[in-house]
Amino acid sequence: MHPQDQDRPPARPDAGDWPETETSVEQSFGPDPLAVRHTDHYLQEYVASLAEKWDEIVDWDLRAASEGDFFIDLLRRHGARRVLDVATGTGFHSCRLLAAGFDVTSVDGSPAMLAKAERNALARGLNFQPVRADWRRLSQQVQGPFDAIICLGNSFTHLFTDLERRQALAEYHRVLKPGGILVLDQRNYDLILDRGYHSQHIYYYCGRDIEVRPEYMDEGLARFCYVFPDQTTFYLNMCPLRIDYLLGLISQGGFQPIQTYGDFHDPFSREQTEFLVHVATKPNGVKAGA
Ligand SMILES: C[S@@+](CC[C@H](N)C(=O)[O-])C[C@H]1O[C@@H](n2cnc3c(N)ncnc32)[C@H](O)[C@@H]1O
Repeated sequence: MHPQDQDRPPARPDAGDWPETETSVEQSFGPDPLAVRHTDHYLQEYVASLAEKWDEIVDWDLRAASEGDFFIDLLRRHGARRVLDVATGTGFHSCRLLAAGFDVTSVDGSPAMLAKAERNALARGLNFQPVRADWRRLSQQVQGPFDAIICLGNSFTHLFTDLERRQALAEYHRVLKPGGILVLDQRNYDLILDRGYHSQHIYYYCGRDIEVRPEYMDEGLARFCYVFPDQTTFYLNMCPLRIDYLLGLISQGGFQPIQTYGDFHDPFSREQTEFLVHVATKPNGVKAGA
């Protein structure tokens, strides 16, 4: 169990409906932003104003240059054709994979991010297949089996309880074919928690002149801010998942083996890597949904 979960009530078993706040245009964290430590809040973070700015934070060209064809090559090596992007965001990886010839289904829980992704894909003439779904209820909305699932951009960190992480992994497992792979990345939170934050902004958040840094960190909250040159600022509240905890969770979710890359290289260094990519296999011989 993650340390922060000890005093926490279990996730709502009836979390079947979308919260009413989903159509907000501006971010809202209430009077005590550091107390915002629950999963459904991502819908009040990935609102229309952030969706419009996300691509400036990321910078698609610089990001593509920094990661190269890592994910395309990885998916091809594993023989994947049908791919589920569960954290589509504004569509960076969905679009890259579609352009490379993969059959991609693009999921996100945020309608604002998914709408922006659709515009990005249409502008590139790509056959975008969007599905609005929450990971905790994924199999209600998407029909597997997929050859691969990608959950990229440090997205899994938006889940705040151990139970919800297990739910999401079980849902990924359910819609993945036996022998298929889950590709899930994370920030190296161990390094930030233990040694402080340092980044050269080479990977993932590549936007020039945009400051990305944690405003606050403890074992249960990583509150990052994204500051634009005109001082427009957005925030994301995430749960800093330590590496060994997450690897244990993925393994207990029925995935084996798990191979981890550091900043798109193998093997990874715990002291130097900024982002880790875990490639976890659903073993052959395991029935979908088992
Ligand atoms: C950090 S963004 C990453 C977007 C994209 N992968 C990238 O790297 O640019 C995280 C995305 O995950 C989505 N998300 C977070 N929690 C989710 C959940 N429980 N179910 C579905 N989508 C979720 C958010 O709406 C957001 O678009």
